[in-house]
Amino acid sequence: MGYVFNCPTRLNFSDNAAEDLVLELSGAEGGSVLVLTDAGILKAGIAGPVVDRLQTAGFKTTLFGEVPGNPSVNDVDQAVAVAKRAGATHLVAIGGGSVIDTAKAVGVLMTHEGVNWEDLQWGRAKISRPSLPVIAVPTTSGTGSEVTHVAVIGDSKGFKKGVVHPTIFPDTALIDGHLTLSLPPHLTAATGMDALVHAMEAYLGKRHNPITDLYALAAIRLTSQWLPEATRNGKNLEARSAMAQAASLGGIAMDQAGLGLVHSLCGPLAATYHVHHGLGIAVLLPATLAFNAPEIKGERWENLRAAIGLAGTASPEELSGWAEDLLKEIGLPTRLSELGVKKEMIAEMAEDATRMVMTPNNIRPVTAEDCASVLEMAL
Ligand SMILES: [Fe+2]
Repeated sequence: MGYVFNCPTRLNFSDNAAEDLVLELSGAEGGSVLVLTDAGILKAGIAGPVVDRLQTAGFKTTLFGEVPGNPSVNDVDQAVAVAKRAGATHLVAIGGGSVIDTAKAVGVLMTHEGVNWEDLQWGRAKISRPSLPVIAVPTTSGTGSEVTHVAVIGDSKGFKKGVVHPTIFPDTALIDGHLTLSLPPHLTAATGMDALVHAMEAYLGKRHNPITDLYALAAIRLTSQWLPEATRNGKNLEARSAMAQAASLGGIAMDQAGLGLVHSLCGPLAATYHVHHGLGIAVLLPATLAFNAPEIKGERWENLRAAIGLAGTASPEELSGWAEDLLKEIGLPTRLSELGVKKEMIAEMAEDATRMVMTPNNIRPVTAEDCASVLEMAL
């Protein structure tokens, strides 16, 4: 089966994001840099020093610090207005997936005068020119948005819809574990599980290939080894750096090979109960692995087993128990009922999950009844 592996994003695994950002922007002298971030990142003192460093290095720098969680097309419009006033030529996104996806959208709209993001979401307009350059600086280790060519934004009715295009790839992902040192344990755990599941679903997905397998297995190995320590001891830079790398490697694997049933189920779960993406993903993992286990065979199983660190005698049926133990170890809930999910909603969520784009990529074919039984098992 033929495939294309296209990840043009330059990866800069950094020990000093502020200094390396100045180097990454060399060539942008005379331009205008817009830094996008959110209130939490500003309050944590992560974005301020980076903006100061850019200014002392002589860059004309403007700060937009109001990207909300779950940004909508209106939030994108606000950021575009600021970018236009500033005459932005380069965008720097310091934050999680919401901030990075907003910067990706702003980058595209800045070169598409008269086009609204919703037009692109619903196919009323097409991307026809390169985006402004975006440097993505992740402050959580999870979404992988810094290496993907999709931007997920809420449309004017609040429906989250991705726009996919090669120009959406950030030019550079500047990845520095120092920026995640103050992330609290529950967010470290939930975002870290998202990174792990991106890698596992890419590895187990139908569209996997030998290159994505390398990225996915490396991310699984790093996460299995370091997520408990990063959660337990947030100041451990070695653990934070390992998780920062795992998130980007898993992001590349997911972007190139696609996702599976955990993400299919999490879409309707998040839409119905507004649970945090990583948390929903985490709780759905054990039951989904139990469902997928019969299809994980031979060398595919051996490689996965070794990356996770399970004994040579372990079987795929043990994956579900391993995932549940991991959730307990990092202090996350293990049942959907703990997130407020009610049995009455399962049939509708199961039906919605079958329509998600990731569903056909799952290693085992899935019906609405299968989705319902996995959700019931996770309840
Ligand atoms: Fe995810």
